Amino acid sequence: MDKKVTIVGAGHVGATAAQRLAEKELCDVVLVDIIEGVPQGKALDLTEAAPIEKHDAHLTGANAYDTSEGSDIVIITAGIPRKPGMSRDDLISTNAGIMKTVTEQIVKLSPDTILIIVSNPLDAMCHVAFETSGFPKNRVLGMAGILDSARFRAFISMELGVSVENTHAFVLGGHGDTMVPLPRYSTVAGIPITELMPQDRIDAIVDRTRNGGAEIVGLLKTGSAYYAPASAAVEMAESILKDKKKILPCATYLEGEYGIKDLFIGVPIKLGANGIEEIIEIKLTDEEQAALNKSADAVRELKEILKGLSY
Ligand SMILES: NC(=O)c1ccc[n+]([C@@H]2O[C@H](COP(=O)([O-])OP(=O)(O)OC[C@H]3O[C@@H](n4cnc5c(N)ncnc54)[C@H](O)[C@@H]3O)[C@@H](O)[C@H]2O)c1
Repeated sequence: MDKKVTIVGAGHVGATAAQRLAEKELCDVVLVDIIEGVPQGKALDLTEAAPIEKHDAHLTGANAYDTSEGSDIVIITAGIPRKPGMSRDDLISTNAGIMKTVTEQIVKLSPDTILIIVSNPLDAMCHVAFETSGFPKNRVLGMAGILDSARFRAFISMELGVSVENTHAFVLGGHGDTMVPLPRYSTVAGIPITELMPQDRIDAIVDRTRNGGAEIVGLLKTGSAYYAPASAAVEMAESILKDKKKILPCATYLEGEYGIKDLFIGVPIKLGANGIEEIIEIKLTDEEQAALNKSADAVRELKEILKGLSY
């Protein structure tokens, strides 16, 4: 492959993303993790599946960063996931330290790369990577909105008994309980869901979307969701690698757009070879803007907590 993607953290999300990238033949993949043998073992296992899955992507695993040199994209999933009863925010002190160390290592060998952050609490981890890397804002972005929108789409499809392919949904804001699903901009074959189902069903779906991560943590008990998160991160990587210029909701550093300043928060962006190529500002009602502002306040609080941590 002529493109290389490094995934730091060869755990559930990282290894699944590696599998999807390789099976789509989008790039060669380097898996990096601190646990000896794990990235090497998973890369070898995926390599041995390649003849059956019919792809020629090259996968390697390592504990050091040398093989990550010159990566087009680096997806950072390193960190701890939450357990039942924990919020994403409870992970902040552990994961901030990990994010800083990982980013320092990555930028030394891949100064022109695009960083896709996955570790939680997502919006706060984007700040750590942004500040540590010193990269311009078009090259640091976070995965959350695509996952939250995919959950919303899955629930719309279940509710109406229609193909997921006909569904489209938008979820803005931070990746937490204050996320802002937008029913007005969520459609089935172009028809807003507000015309297809009663308000109480929309409210129930919005609520399930907000708690989508916790629902899975509650079922798994030993970790958090990873199939859909990996798919979401790979959709972002694909749009960059193929310069597709997809409009996708991603955590993005805002400098006044949507009335929000100096904060990573999920908004629709155009994603291409240069990373974030445009921030799309859609018109929000007063109620939607208030919900987005509330979500931004929650992210701002996390940013304040970061300031008080020594990581
Ligand atoms: N943004 C989202 O929507 C979203 C969705 C799912 C998971 N997540 C987050 O992604 C992270 C990973 O989740 P997971 O389920 O894959 O967890 P996991 O425990 O399966 O994998 C995490 C991996 O990171 C590795 N790691 C820890 N410190 C490291 C370091 N300094 N350098 C390299 N590797 C290191 C661990 O050894 C482990 O293999 C968690 O923080 C989780 O909350 C975010």
